[in-house]
Amino acid sequence: MSQIELRPGLADVPVAESAVSYIDGKNARLEYRGIAVETLATESCFEETSYLLLKGDLPTQKQLADFDDQLRHHRRIKFRLVDLLKSLPETGHPMYALQAAVAAMGMFYPARDVTNAQSNWESVIRLIAKLPTVVAAFHRIRHGDEPIKPRDDLDHAGNFFWMLFEKEPSPAVRKVIDACLILHAEHTMNASTFSGRVTGSTLANPYTVISAAIGTLTGPLHGGANEEVLDMLGEIQTIGNVRAWCDDAITNKKKIMGFGHRVYKVKDPRATVLQTLAECVFADAGRPASYDLAVEMEKVLAEKLGSKGICPNVDFYSGIVYKALGIPMDLFTPIFAIARVAGWLSHWLEQLQNNRIYRPEQVYVGKTSAVYVPLAKRP
Ligand code: SDX
Repeated sequence: MSQIELRPGLADVPVAESAVSYIDGKNARLEYRGIAVETLATESCFEETSYLLLKGDLPTQKQLADFDDQLRHHRRIKFRLVDLLKSLPETGHPMYALQAAVAAMGMFYPARDVTNAQSNWESVIRLIAKLPTVVAAFHRIRHGDEPIKPRDDLDHAGNFFWMLFEKEPSPAVRKVIDACLILHAEHTMNASTFSGRVTGSTLANPYTVISAAIGTLTGPLHGGANEEVLDMLGEIQTIGNVRAWCDDAITNKKKIMGFGHRVYKVKDPRATVLQTLAECVFADAGRPASYDLAVEMEKVLAEKLGSKGICPNVDFYSGIVYKALGIPMDLFTPIFAIARVAGWLSHWLEQLQNNRIYRPEQVYVGKTSAVYVPLAKRP
């Protein structure tokens, strides 16, 4: 029998050297390439943050203008990709449509030679540029509407809003969406990033890498939690129910969505920024009851679970912000993917720089040297 120590969930096991981002989970610190995420969320834009993650340094003015031009130029998707989206069931989850469309992109664009830096960069641009178009197109198609063409005169966040609603966002709403994209763009060795790195380590094409990461993000323990938070708040209904609901969840060992994190043992710094953003949105749109419920829940759970280091994570307030902007619940996780693609691609490029295929060990607990009984002799 093997003597290897098993670490369930690979807890505390390093799987790569990475210079993309850094978390100090005790001090609520998250940095992208050394810069605090709070600073980026207020000072930067998603395009600049993506460049920083991908290249390692902030762009010069010219570099950012060129990068932005390339992204704007590649927003359109092939009509056959639109046909593919039209052929999918309108009741299907948009994350599945996104995963299928991104996997299919690997058939439209030559990207198999991952030793070709120019081709890899073209894939990076296409993926970041086209994900919002795919998400918005599927959303329109499932409601029986034609997709809205991307507009080159709008930035990444503004154009996404335009393609969803055929309406330009106000500057305040545009800023909120942009900040949400920045906050979700990268987060060290999380499950979807690891999944992308594992797929990348086989030298698979980048569309396959990103579709693997998207698939991993769908689960309720990962990116899918933002939708479940709103279901949970819907179930609780009133502030008066919060304490009893939390007691029941703790007694029955129910997972409380939007709480807990493998690395953070204090409140996730992204949740803090999202809460501030939520309050900006509510100053215009009005304060929804779900926000008051969430704040009360955070207070009650701080008393009950705070000492165990179970605190709000990024998914706790993000859905409340998106809902206040009129975004349907099942688009919350696709928006996470539209942002995180920048981080996934940064890790993919990093993985390729010093690649070795991931091939871990297992602790075998099955039978050995078992006898094969021919079928005719079995009952
Ligand atoms: C994201 O990793 C990343 O970076 C992910 C992410 C990113 O940006 O990429 O930050 C995005 O995925 C945020 C997480 C979204 N998921 C949820 O909100 C779902 C609810 N939370 C969890 O199930 C859980 O906290 C995880 C999945 C986030 C972390 O899981 P771990 O590290 O494996 O922790 P665990 O499940 O083993 O919990 C340890 C203890 C257990 O108690 P004991 O058995 O030790 O007594 O803490 C308890 C758990 O029961 N616990 C919770 C809880 N989270 C942990 N109890 C109730 N509710 C919770 N949410």
